[in-house]
Amino acid sequence: MIPGLAKDVLAVAAGGVLFYLCSGEDWDELVDAFSPTVDIFWFCDPTYGRICAVPVPSFRLVDTVVEGDPDARTCRVADGGRGYQDVPPCVWSSRMVSEENGRMVTVKRRRGFGEYALATEFPDRSISVFVHRGDTLAGGESSSSSCFLGRRRKCHEPLSMLFDKLARKLRDTALIVSDGSNTDIAELRVFHRSETPGSDAFAVAKERPFSRWGFDWHCVGHLGRRYGPTLLWEVRRSPDG
Ligand SMILES: C[S@@+](CC[C@H](N)C(=O)[O-])C[C@H]1O[C@@H](n2cnc3c(N)ncnc32)[C@H](O)[C@@H]1O
Repeated sequence: MIPGLAKDVLAVAAGGVLFYLCSGEDWDELVDAFSPTVDIFWFCDPTYGRICAVPVPSFRLVDTVVEGDPDARTCRVADGGRGYQDVPPCVWSSRMVSEENGRMVTVKRRRGFGEYALATEFPDRSISVFVHRGDTLAGGESSSSSCFLGRRRKCHEPLSMLFDKLARKLRDTALIVSDGSNTDIAELRVFHRSETPGSDAFAVAKERPFSRWGFDWHCVGHLGRRYGPTLLWEVRRSPDG
């Protein structure tokens, strides 16, 4: 287990689900960090396939249940004269036990696009930790080019105003974990693409709380690096949010 997160940060995560889209194989650190209080982890990426390695070295796999067709192929969805990629979802749910403390967690790896997962998989106010890092807006094979922490309007409704969609799914107090990828929130981008150590970035960011889009944001910790340090932001829904 990594040393890291303070008890009050883990308490914010307790009882909700962790949702990480565009996750690739970046799961060890998140499960290690949040398994003390989070029971269910969702990792979402269209590249997940039939052969998925057991995710976390410090956990022992108990069993895996598969829902959906592991062999389904990517298809096109027509909307307003345009075509959009989709893939029928398949979810591998693995129960895993910590070798260190015997705690059981469920790690769900969902093959599919994150925008659709956000729309369909989570009840309102259920996500206690949202993670997005190591991604770009540049397009290309391995990046989403979707502004998940933004409010950009798109012709295809499921891709539009993604922060508003996330906001509905977040608990009233939750954590957003970001390295500044794919966001229009300038405060999250301060250390994006910088070499600043996480501890230094955190020391600066925690003194700069701000309010945006119906939430009060306060930096409460840091994790490892992607495109710069990964910072943890506690978000509290404003009374009028
Ligand atoms: C650059 S990789 C980063 C992976 C991981 N976040 C990391 O830091 O190691 C971006 C990942 O996003 C996935 N991806 C692209 N578009 C996506 C979408 N709309 N929803 C979910 N994942 C997507 C790609 O398959 C790829 O695995």
